[in-house]
Amino acid sequence: MRTASHILRLEPYTPGEQPASRRVVKLNTNESPYPPSPKCAAVLSSFNLDDLRRYPDPNFTALTKAIADKNGTTPDRVFVGNGSAEILALASHVFVENDESIGSLDPSYTLYKALAAIHDVKWVGVGRAADDAQRARSALAECRRSNISLFLWTNPNAPTGEFVEPETIAAFAGKFKGVVLVDEAYADFARGNCMSLATAKRNRNVIVMRTFSKSYSLAGLRVGYCIGPKDLIKALYKTKPSYNVDAVAQAVALTALKDGAYHRKTVAKVIKTRAAFEKALAKRGWDVIKSEANFVFTKPPTGDAANDIFSYLRDRNILVRYFPGPITGDWLRITIGTDGQMKTLLAALDDRFKKLKG
Ligand SMILES: Cc1ncc(COP(=O)(O)O)c(C=O)c1O
Repeated sequence: MRTASHILRLEPYTPGEQPASRRVVKLNTNESPYPPSPKCAAVLSSFNLDDLRRYPDPNFTALTKAIADKNGTTPDRVFVGNGSAEILALASHVFVENDESIGSLDPSYTLYKALAAIHDVKWVGVGRAADDAQRARSALAECRRSNISLFLWTNPNAPTGEFVEPETIAAFAGKFKGVVLVDEAYADFARGNCMSLATAKRNRNVIVMRTFSKSYSLAGLRVGYCIGPKDLIKALYKTKPSYNVDAVAQAVALTALKDGAYHRKTVAKVIKTRAAFEKALAKRGWDVIKSEANFVFTKPPTGDAANDIFSYLRDRNILVRYFPGPITGDWLRITIGTDGQMKTLLAALDDRFKKLKG
């Protein structure tokens, strides 16, 4: 018995900290600061305990139908995962041969690199460019050079929050021979999305992925889904664990999806708070990348270091996210919380500034 050598070498993905205390101002993992739809509570309290004796529906029939209806497509083009992280893990096996690579933007969601390492294939990142069209051209050139068969295009991107017009991704996909998985974990907070690329009849290689973890306030439930061409969806089904989404999760996600009014209301609140927070940071001299997600990526004014601020805030029970390294090490990613939480954070920053000056 031995562990495969590439697993021994593996640098695992490090998820954001999940402290046990509820007293922490938690702005580090892009969760929603608002509770899920109150209708979810009713589903949980009336859930028939006896139903837990049985395995859940392996095809998530009711949830898949609701997702298909909402997005104007058919259930055979929908796949549901145990969080979108499971879909990413499956995709990294299903669409990549041993001699092929996985591509993504760089910086982007750091899990992608770890997934490539788990599968023992190369990960290739495409850096920022003068504009999106140029970046798409670079991505295409890199796909050819590095034999990339799966490109994970995060839109809006994480951790930067930048949004790329769907036309740019469509043009890229049109020329790319592999599969483009557009990770739209944050699309509900953006001005647009790529879903029409995924549902189009002529689509051969675009999968659009969403999650219930962010805008639906259900990160603890673990449900994500994707929509794409039938043959690619079928391939994901072939490889999934039989009962990958539990019965409670299927029922709660279905209810949250159907409560569109509540969803729109919470998303609107986050977008409003984001605009005010971006302004507040800019006023204090922080460099802020215009965000279309539920977080901002921001660089402190000269004279202060992102990792020092990270530790300072942590000591005050305020958690934000810091990604070390040459591209991201000068920046912090701050999740949009409630107005009150953002006020607490800004007060702590002002306090620090006063002390540094004095
Ligand atoms: C870009 C992106 N994709 C996917 C995920 C995974 O989300 P989940 O597995 O909770 O659906 C995250 C989580 O932070 C993310 O930031």
